This record gives sequence, C-alpha cells and structure tokens, in this order.
Amino acid sequence: MRKNFYVVGNLKMNLLSREEATQYISLFQRELQGKRFERVKGIVCPPFLYLSQFDNLPASIQKGAQNFFPEKSGAYTGEISPLMLKNDGVEYVIVGHSERRRIACETDAMLHNKTLSALKHHLIPIVCVGETDEERRADETDRVLAEQVKIIFSSLSKLQAGTVIVAYEPRWAIGTDRLPTTEELLQVRVLLLKLFTEMFDAQTAERIAVLYGGSVKSAFLPAVSFEARMDGVLVGRESLFPYELVKMMGVLEYEAERQEQER
Ligand code: PGA
Repeated sequence: MRKNFYVVGNLKMNLLSREEATQYISLFQRELQGKRFERVKGIVCPPFLYLSQFDNLPASIQKGAQNFFPEKSGAYTGEISPLMLKNDGVEYVIVGHSERRRIACETDAMLHNKTLSALKHHLIPIVCVGETDEERRADETDRVLAEQVKIIFSSLSKLQAGTVIVAYEPRWAIGTDRLPTTEELLQVRVLLLKLFTEMFDAQTAERIAVLYGGSVKSAFLPAVSFEARMDGVLVGRESLFPYELVKMMGVLEYEAERQEQER
C-alpha cells in the first residue's frame, strides 16, 4: 500500500474580508506553481464564507470545513449542513476541535453523532482528540484518549472507521509553542493502534490515519510527523502562511518517496 501523508491547514476565524481570502489564495497558487504532490494530500479549511473562493486552488489542495451541524436540512438557524458542504465540493471536515469542545461545549457523544453524519454524507471526518494540561500532569493521557476514541468510534463499521482521520491534538500544545516529544507521540501512536485493533481489527487500525496537531512549524515537522509514525499534521497559526504549508507538503512528499524506495 502506498503511503499518503496529510497536511491540513485550519485557518480558524481568520481572513477578514473577501479580498484577504483572494490574496491568500493567490499566494497559495504562486507557492504551488510547478510543484507536484503525489503522496501528500493538502487540505485547507477556511471559514465557511470563503469556501467557494477556494475552488480556485490547484487540484493538489482539497477543501475542508472547520465544522458543520449533523442534520441534512431544516430548522437549525445559523447552522451549515454536511450536504451543503458536500455539494460545494468540500471533501473533509474537522470534528471536535478542542476550541469547539471548549466554546460550543461539544461532547464526545455529540462528536460520535457528527462523525456518523459526516460519513453518511461522504465527507471524511478529521476527528480531534487530546488531553488537557491537567490530565497530562495527572498521567491520564492514555485514559482520556481511550475514552474519547471509544465513544466517538462506537458503532462505526470497520469500513467507516478505516476512512476516518484522527488528529491527536494535546490541548496544552495548541497555540502555545509547547510540543510533545517524538517519544511521547510514538506512545500515543502505539496506543491508538492498540485501541483501534481492539475495537475493529489490525488491518482497520493500520488504515486509520493519525495526524499530530498543536504548534506545528515546518522547522520541526519531522519530529512530530514521520519520526513519530504520524501520517501528517494539522496546522493552525502557520497555515496562514501558504509558503509554510507548501514547504511542509514538500518535506512529507520527499519522505514518502524515500520510504517507498526503501521498501
Ligand atoms: P496551532 O493550532 O498550530 O496554532 O497551535 C493548532 C490547532 O488548533 O489545530
């Protein structure tokens, strides 16, 4: 099986006008010129308002959304349906980012429902899990991750589970410039493999991509991605610089090619 890496940019509540979005997109186009990515999927998640503008990006970048409401249509004032996203060319959707857990009080049970809804509408969920600083200090990382994963993935078929992307985002690492060590990330990778093998089977567990997110910068990309057996990264602040995202894609493309030749 050929190895694919992911670089996901979460633009959060940034780009304050259509003009800023246009400018961002043209910078991105310029950075991508003449570059080919065969083993890396680039995904950008802009605010809803600008999603259609992002159709102008080359095929090596796909559109993702930062959130959605898990119903197809109806009386849900202010919400966006997964079908609207799909019909607008969105392929991926972030589920349960810690900022939404905090601001919108999203619970694991709600995220389970959202994951099922995304899959039903043929969107690939990028499910965020991760412990708080307090939980980490109390040595509860494994327990917290197991609990989140067990609830969010419950009742999914093996086929469904295999298409989900997980983003391990320790909450204490988001927006803080603090990072887990490669060793700590490897432990999380092994734990997730074990949990998914128990819930589904070894083959499915291998198919579930796991990304790292939290204060990612291109300078230390290897240490938080392939050196920790992660399948890529979810990038917040640095995704506001297309140059950085494309640079990360380049590093991972090179690594995937290297791994392929080694095999
Ligand atoms: P950050 O955000 O890269 O700015 O730390 C990461 C995230 O929220 O996914």
